[in-house]
Amino acid sequence: MTRHLLDIDDLTPSELNAVLDLAADEYPPHVLTGRGVALVFQKPSARTRSSSELAVFQLGGHPLTIRADEVGIDERESAEDVARTLSQYHAAIGARVLDHEVLVRMVAVSSVPIVNLLSDRAHPLQAIGDLLTLRSHWGGNLAGRRVAWVGDANNVARSFVLACAMTGVDVVMATPPSHRLDQATVEEVAEFGGNLVQTSVPEEAVKEADAIYTDVWVSMGQEGESVERLVAFAPYHVGASLMGLAAPGAVFLHCLPAHRGEEVAAEVIDGPASLVWPQAANRLRAMRGLLLWLFS
Ligand code: CP
Ligand code: NVA
Repeated sequence: MTRHLLDIDDLTPSELNAVLDLAADEYPPHVLTGRGVALVFQKPSARTRSSSELAVFQLGGHPLTIRADEVGIDERESAEDVARTLSQYHAAIGARVLDHEVLVRMVAVSSVPIVNLLSDRAHPLQAIGDLLTLRSHWGGNLAGRRVAWVGDANNVARSFVLACAMTGVDVVMATPPSHRLDQATVEEVAEFGGNLVQTSVPEEAVKEADAIYTDVWVSMGQEGESVERLVAFAPYHVGASLMGLAAPGAVFLHCLPAHRGEEVAAEVIDGPASLVWPQAANRLRAMRGLLLWLFS
């Protein structure tokens, strides 16, 4: 059966742990020798493109990055025909799409794994990199740790809270009431036995938190909502005073790109509690781990 990764819950918790373990292999076997991986981007990317291309190269394969305007998904030809075509040549297809449904349509026709490189709904590779970062910082065992998510309950947040539920990490989310996590994800967290509390008060969320995680207030594709969002999220700025309310030794996470002065203060993201650069580095291990798991 062809496996795909549209969100982190396409893996079972034990499969997720296997991917995390494989990601730690700094000298991985060349499981992609002579094979290609297509990487299609409908939105800009720095980390995901670099980490994906390098991961494929380090596994002996050839990454082919294709910008959306070169293939014209649903313009030049349908998303299905793009997937059918690319699967004639490539061992896997990664795609960063505006609309998650495009990935679902690609999965329906693809004979090779489809990997979500970020959609409006999910960012599973980011969640894998985030868990690697926390595992490395906390010494392996994640269970019983607490992370405060402060800000938008969007794609990165959704995959992250699911990944936390799958690995025993408790999450408290502080979001504006208008931008809470969707009910289906809340229910899925419960099915995984996860502990998730939602509040609209950031000071409550960060109490006893071992990490504080935030994301941009205006995600790619939401630029038309900028004015409303900057107002709604203003109370959710992660500054030094909010960091000071978390547990002693608490760390700061951000998927990047970041907007200093909006969701995070420069003194926090550039300060000693910040893990954002190891977190970015772990995106390479995350993609390697996933490809190793798919092709070993
Ligand atoms: N975090 C992340 O996915 O970064 P890019 O958008 O630069 O790929
Ligand atoms: N939520 C952000 C994440 C970028 C990696 C976005 O979708 O733009």
